[in-house]
Amino acid sequence: MDSGTKRKYEQSPQWAQINDSVFADESATDLARFKSDGINYKFTMWDPRINGVRYLKTLIYNLASTLSPENVARLRRIGNRQVGAPVTITYDGDAICMDYLLAVQELDFVSGHVELDGGRVLEIGAGYGRTCHAFLANHDLAEYCIIDLPKSLEMSRRYLREVLDEHQFAKVRFVAVGDIDDAAWPERYDLCVNINSFAEMTAETVADYLELIDVRCRAFYTKNPVGKYLDASLDGHVQGAGTVALALSTGPLTDIIDIHDSDAVAGERAKFLSAYRPADGWVCVADGWAKPWSFYWQALYLAPGA
Ligand SMILES: C[S@@+](CC[C@H](N)C(=O)[O-])C[C@H]1O[C@@H](n2cnc3c(N)ncnc32)[C@H](O)[C@@H]1O
Repeated sequence: MDSGTKRKYEQSPQWAQINDSVFADESATDLARFKSDGINYKFTMWDPRINGVRYLKTLIYNLASTLSPENVARLRRIGNRQVGAPVTITYDGDAICMDYLLAVQELDFVSGHVELDGGRVLEIGAGYGRTCHAFLANHDLAEYCIIDLPKSLEMSRRYLREVLDEHQFAKVRFVAVGDIDDAAWPERYDLCVNINSFAEMTAETVADYLELIDVRCRAFYTKNPVGKYLDASLDGHVQGAGTVALALSTGPLTDIIDIHDSDAVAGERAKFLSAYRPADGWVCVADGWAKPWSFYWQALYLAPGA
């Protein structure tokens, strides 16, 4: 047929390219592997090797669709969420990123057990300050104190000055780790928060902080991994063997597990609850899987007599 004649049911230029390139490589159709790195990534849309942002947005979108009306209201009370240009989807008119989606879930879990209005909150390891932002936007706290390493502390100070109003920002206290023992502390904090950071400290440092929580706080919320993993298919260990070794060595929970096996994760629950109990006598009043990451657990403990 000459090139000027139109054929019925002809392949598009896109499929012509697939047929000429991917199908041309015999290994792409190898029955033993074609679903993991072969032609199936042209039959489907979910090639994990090149679709990081697609996966993140899909995850946020799906989580956003499950937010309760109360959590949507919590999210809407947090202004200036677009500062820092997060990866965002739009759901029911709201711009939503992963960090604040998780923040409202965390707030939901905690506020069911601790009276936050008028209270004092202490956070250890706050990152850029998303949790502080979410708490202050939703509750009339008396104080929110952040303990952190100096560089992260400077980051959260800059961010929170930008996103909070003057009245809210005045309630935030920043304490560098080197100043903890010399700082003047209030009688008690109503809540201590640690999200995704005890697992990155040495076990000795975590023990020091648990002692501080026992002495200074009435309640403790932790959300951290239940263990470690060594599955190179997840990230290709792109940051190198040294970084992997450091990650494996930190935190109080260092069992290596299959983090995408729900039985294996649930099997670490008792160790998690024991490792993060600040001291004898503290009672865990709620715990469970901290979605969406398969191997994160959350728990809320109350001090004796609280
Ligand atoms: C992975 S980030 C988590 C940030 C935040 N909690 C969140 O979920 O967005 C870990 C945080 O722990 C802090 N951190 C690490 N070692 C610490 C230490 N010894 N004392 C206090 N904070 C520490 C880091 O500076 C950082 O702010």
